Amino acid sequence: MSAVSIIATLIKLLEVRVSMSNGVKWVTEDPEKKNVFWPSEEMKKKAWVSDPNVYEEAMKDQEGYWAKVAGELHWDKKWDKVYEQNPDKPWEFKWFLGGKINAAYNCLDRHIEAGKGDKVAFVWVPEPVDEKPVEVTYAELNKEVNKLANAMKKLGIKKGDRVGIYLPMIPEMVASLLACARIGAVHNVVFSAFSGESVKDRMEDAEAKLLITANGYFRRGKPLDLKKNADVGVEGTPIENVIVVERTKEIEVNWNEGKDHWYHEIIENESGECESEFVESNDMLFMLYTSGTTGKPKGIVHDTGGYLTQAYITAKNNFNLHDDDMFWCTADVGWITGHTYGCYGPLSVGATQLVFEGAPNYPDMGRWWQVVQDHKVTVLYTAPTAIRMFIKAGDEWPKKYDMSSLRILGSVGEPIDEEAWLWYFRTIGGSRCPVIDTYWQTETGAHVINTLPGVGPFVPTVAGRGFLGINFSLYEEAGNEAEPGVPGFLAMKPPFSPGMLRGIYKNEQKFIDTYWSRFKGVYDTSDGARFTDYDLIRVTGRVDDVMKVAGHRLSTGELENAINEHELVRESAVVPRPDKIKGEVPIVFALLRDASKASDDLKTEIVKHVDKMIGPTARPAEIYFVEDVPKTRSGKIMRRILRGLIKNEPNLGNTTTLLNPECVEHLKEVVGYTGGG
Ligand code: WTA
Repeated sequence: MSAVSIIATLIKLLEVRVSMSNGVKWVTEDPEKKNVFWPSEEMKKKAWVSDPNVYEEAMKDQEGYWAKVAGELHWDKKWDKVYEQNPDKPWEFKWFLGGKINAAYNCLDRHIEAGKGDKVAFVWVPEPVDEKPVEVTYAELNKEVNKLANAMKKLGIKKGDRVGIYLPMIPEMVASLLACARIGAVHNVVFSAFSGESVKDRMEDAEAKLLITANGYFRRGKPLDLKKNADVGVEGTPIENVIVVERTKEIEVNWNEGKDHWYHEIIENESGECESEFVESNDMLFMLYTSGTTGKPKGIVHDTGGYLTQAYITAKNNFNLHDDDMFWCTADVGWITGHTYGCYGPLSVGATQLVFEGAPNYPDMGRWWQVVQDHKVTVLYTAPTAIRMFIKAGDEWPKKYDMSSLRILGSVGEPIDEEAWLWYFRTIGGSRCPVIDTYWQTETGAHVINTLPGVGPFVPTVAGRGFLGINFSLYEEAGNEAEPGVPGFLAMKPPFSPGMLRGIYKNEQKFIDTYWSRFKGVYDTSDGARFTDYDLIRVTGRVDDVMKVAGHRLSTGELENAINEHELVRESAVVPRPDKIKGEVPIVFALLRDASKASDDLKTEIVKHVDKMIGPTARPAEIYFVEDVPKTRSGKIMRRILRGLIKNEPNLGNTTTLLNPECVEHLKEVVGYTGGG
């Protein structure tokens, strides 16, 4: 190393130090209460909302509040009525009736017309370190979206048609969502790590006509063949055409002449202009399949105007997005978080965001922090499971990078424990940035509980209060509202927020049974919660059979269904086991048709089978071959007891009413139960 380069390195190190110590303090510590934080004066000045009275004002006139927010968007025709709800069927509610709106227009044209066409809409960071990041401006994105929209029209796609999207985190993903929105088509995204079988189920149920996919993508340095899965997903479905993005030249794909079209070829000669299809506010913008308590994922239906209104205002207020922000939501667009905060939210605000293709630990555990440093990320939105993974990897990784650009940290997906919260706050945020813990669901479409960055307080493990104009209550099993301080079922009271789901695709009965049956007149979240200090809500987790595995939503029933399809398995029961990094992992009790076939090879085979049916996210962490599982007299599996066994709970509860209480003793041996907690 020459003297010059040593000096240059020293100067660089010094710069890092200086800028780190220059980071603005966006929070202050409560003088009396430990680990309670409030927005600093700087934050209050910068925040869109800093007056706590806005909560009360919005609550006094909820419809009025939402109408005011919706008015910040572009409507081709204003609504005739703000809100309507069937008094006998609370699930039949509508927002902004008669209003005509287009989501793509609001995410693109609105900003371009305001002179922001040259502003960067997103920076795409590819996984391979030798590939350069790509900046896409609002005007460029608009052109791309329109070309694709025109190409889709030529393939016969019309308003209301369903379009499957099975893409990795590449720029074409964002363009595809918006191209559907542009022409009023309904997108149905399937997470790229899901299997071909999952794609097929979802395309069949949705009766999709077109699939947009890619030939592959990079994961931990390796190109993966996505087209192979897509081919499985298309076969035997009503899909007529497949548009394929060429992400890499390293993969040779199977080509179905006449059906498959290269993305770059099909858009090449299309016009960069396309008329927006202004749809009625309550028309469908998209559907997204998610796990419920039963075996089959359900197609959650979202409308256009209501969804966009809530996506817009929660992105703007909760992340306090301004023109100088670089917002990074690390979620994949395969999940609702990626839809709302990786696409519609920040784009409807006109913000600049970052889209990252890769895994968090490639090429090393410092990759994310390097991205934060290099792109001067100001708002980072991620999940507790990732935070726990980084805690384990060690503080040396984030310490290598200058993250003084950060202003706000967000968390989503599961309850965040105190250790993860404080580590995120101190090590990533340098004790300067609020952690905004956002509670919501695929069903709610956007944040429904959190604290506002300019209002606070920020308290570890506590999500916050109902967002402006959203009213939550806690209920007891019997249906009465819980007394203050008593834990209960978390439910939303009417008017239901505009971003809320409008149904389960083609299954109204399931919609009613799942969300509207336990308590009268309110939306049942299936989460438990309690009120804490300052009237804030602490969400404790699901009260049904939905697991959160590394932040991914998965039902025990779905996994059981997949496993039961293996020819050697007669029956199975899946329960979650707490896991230090992933939050929960699935544990399988499998009953074989022929017990003598039990072997380690069969375990591997079952894991492979799960990969094929659902995808690697659902991989069981452990498979026990057993002869029996506890059942009720009516033959239903008592998962409560299996859960207790797996968690080593001291009290397994009453087993005397079981059909087969004797099997519990045997299971204790199998899982090594001691009852020690
Ligand atoms: C859980 C993710 C506690 C909750 C946006 C919910 C949370 C389910 C939080 C929805 C949070 C999400 N605190 N729990 N901040 N955020 N959850 O549909 O159990 O993938 O019902 O949507 O995640 O998961 P989904």
